[in-house]
Amino acid sequence: MISQTLKDMLNEQLTRELTASQQYLGMAAYSGAQNLEGWQAFFERQSEEERGHALKIFHFLVEVGAPVKLSALPEVKSEYASLLEATQAALAYEQKVTREFQAMAQAALEEKDHTTYQFLQWYLEEQIEEESLFGRLVALLESGLNPFLAESLLSKGGEK
Ligand code: FEO
Repeated sequence: MISQTLKDMLNEQLTRELTASQQYLGMAAYSGAQNLEGWQAFFERQSEEERGHALKIFHFLVEVGAPVKLSALPEVKSEYASLLEATQAALAYEQKVTREFQAMAQAALEEKDHTTYQFLQWYLEEQIEEESLFGRLVALLESGLNPFLAESLLSKGGEK
């Protein structure tokens, strides 16, 4: 039986994943405004992925009989100083998400809730990919490469 603490943590994470989906949509909007269609499409796919992450939590909560809370989502940015700033924000966000999932996994372990602990493992693995992806994109843009040229790399290893 899942504890109230973990139910609350998972519901908060559900809201954060939906917020992340909005954040990536904001980055897609910024990219589109810069005529960076490839980046726009990339961030739209990221937005869909985050919605998928939220739905996974949603389904888990329903399956374990925990009430689902759908909180209001905060307004997100759709303007950035540069594409580099947007990707840096994405990397910082993903690093924060990793810490949140680690905290949830730790709480599940302390409660000997191996079901929830196992559920969270998927996210911890996913976060390795997410941090690696944005780390590489930040490095690419920090190298001074023109975002229009970097765009062609998004489907060739810049993005997994
Ligand atoms: Fe749902 Fe990119 O973390």
